[in-house]
Amino acid sequence: MERKASGPLGESVSPPAVAPGRRRLLTVVLGGILTAIAGVVGAPLAAFFALPALRLSERRWLEVGRLAEFPEGEIKKVLARPLTAQAWPYETPRVTVYVLNRGAGKFTVFNIHCTHVGCPVRWNPQAGRFFSPCHGGVFDRDGRVLAGPPPRPLDRYEYKVEKGVLYAGRAYKVTERLEFREWHHA
Ligand code: FES
Repeated sequence: MERKASGPLGESVSPPAVAPGRRRLLTVVLGGILTAIAGVVGAPLAAFFALPALRLSERRWLEVGRLAEFPEGEIKKVLARPLTAQAWPYETPRVTVYVLNRGAGKFTVFNIHCTHVGCPVRWNPQAGRFFSPCHGGVFDRDGRVLAGPPPRPLDRYEYKVEKGVLYAGRAYKVTERLEFREWHHA
């Protein structure tokens, strides 16, 4: 509701009318100023929040090696290196992994830690088995548990191949559901 001001003698006084054209101009100018302020303040804020995420995704990938280093059908132990050298506290340690070249451009990158209590497993090519040195855990060449107390198959890393180089990403657990998909379709 429009409130009317009072004059010195108590009479009601209407505020000066603003021409519609001028009001529109004011609205446009104010909108422009607010947009400019949002841009000046918002851009650095967006960069502040987005850059760490970008760096994190870059750090996520470890260089495992050139594809030629992994003969088809063989399992090889490799020290995967972080893509960029990061200083503390972002330092990404080197990670030892086992790589199985399954052929046709498909790989399995195993986490070397036994899924029982984490002892590093050893691949024995003669036996065609991974052996845990701690409590008798045994895994087949696909990481499935054959013996001992491990509760699930060997964990794996997601991987990608770019320009002839194999990269390892995040580690994941192989659940029963994933097992089937990974072993039969990947
Ligand atoms: S840590 Fe591998 S069987 Fe216990």
